[in-house]
Amino acid sequence: MTMDKSSPGFPKVRLRRLRRNPAIRQLLQETRISVKDFIHPVFVKEGISAAEESRAMSGVRKFPLSGLVEEIQECYELGIRAFIIFGIPSFKDESGSSALNRNGIVQQSIESLRKAFGDQIVIISDVCLCQYTLSGHCGILIGSRVENDRSLDLLARIAVSHANSGSDMVAPSAMMDGQVTAIREALDDNGFTDTIIMGYSAKHASSLYSPFREISDSTPSLGDRKTYQMSFLNHREALREVMMDVQEGADIVMVKPAVPYLDLIRKVREMTNLPLCAFSVSGDYAMIKAASSQGLIDEKQAVHEMLTSIKRAGADILITYHAKLVSQLLNGE
Ligand code: PBG
Ligand code: ZN
Repeated sequence: MTMDKSSPGFPKVRLRRLRRNPAIRQLLQETRISVKDFIHPVFVKEGISAAEESRAMSGVRKFPLSGLVEEIQECYELGIRAFIIFGIPSFKDESGSSALNRNGIVQQSIESLRKAFGDQIVIISDVCLCQYTLSGHCGILIGSRVENDRSLDLLARIAVSHANSGSDMVAPSAMMDGQVTAIREALDDNGFTDTIIMGYSAKHASSLYSPFREISDSTPSLGDRKTYQMSFLNHREALREVMMDVQEGADIVMVKPAVPYLDLIRKVREMTNLPLCAFSVSGDYAMIKAASSQGLIDEKQAVHEMLTSIKRAGADILITYHAKLVSQLLNGE
C-alpha cells in the first residue's frame, strides 16, 4: 500500500530532507572540531638519545630533548599550535627537587621550543610532582600522608621556574587545595603577571590514567590518589572544585577525564564563562587503540566521533593524544 497526502500518517516534517546529500549535511553541521582546538601532549625524557616507543600507548613516543623541535615541527605542519609538556626526569627524590631545577627537562624543553618557534606556538607546562618524587605522589609525603600546604610552596616554585623558561601557560594537576592561589601569587610576585593558569579543576581519581603513569613512570609506590583527586561518584563536589579554581583566579578550567564525564562538561559550560578545556586521557586513547588494532572499530572515525562529542558537550579546547591523527583526517589526508 502506498501512502498519499491524505493518509493520516503522511509526514509534513521530514528531517531526512536535511540529510539528503553531503553538501546539505555539511552546511547544516552544528558541531565542528578543528585542529585549532587541540592541545597535543608531549613527553620529554631525560637521559635518552633517541625517541622511545611506549608499551602502554602504541604510537605515543617519548622524546629526548634533542628530538623535540623536529617532532613539534611535524605537528606544526599539520596545523597543531598548542602543546602540553610532560617531563620524565632521570632523578627522583623525596621532595621532587628536579621539578624545579632550572636545567630540568621541562625547563630546557620550554626554552628550546621558545627559541625555535617564538610566539607561533602555545607552550603549556604540566605542574605536578608525581614524576619527580620517589613516592610517585603529586605532593610531599609526611609519613603516609600527602601534605597539602607544604606541597603548595613547591608547586608555586615549579610554576615560576616554568614561566621563567618561557612557558605561556602553567597547568597545575596536583589537586592540592589552594594550588591556583599559591601559583598566581608566586607568578605575580616574580613579574609573570601574563602567565596563564589552566587549572586541572575537576580531576578525578580515574582508572583511565594508568597508561600515562606507565609512560611517565609516575605510579604511586604506596596508596592511591583518592585523598586529593575527585571521586567519580560525586558530581556536586566536582562543581565545587571548578568554582574554587574560578575564585582562585584560574584563567581556564578543565574537566578530566573527558569521555565518561560529558555531563559534567555540559554543566561546567553552563555554570561559568571561562574557557573550558577537556582532557581526553591516556585510557581513552588506549581503549580505541586496542579495539582498532583488533579490527573491531575504525580508529579515525571513532576518534572523530569521540572528540566531536566532547566539543558538543561544551568544551572549547581538547587535550588529546590523537591530535596528529585527527589533524590528518581534518586536513583531508
Ligand atoms: C599527573 C598527571 C596525570 C595525568 C596528567 N597529569 C596522571 C595522574 O594523575 O595519575 C593523566 C593523563 C592521562 O592519563 O592522559 N599529575
Ligand atoms: Zn601528579
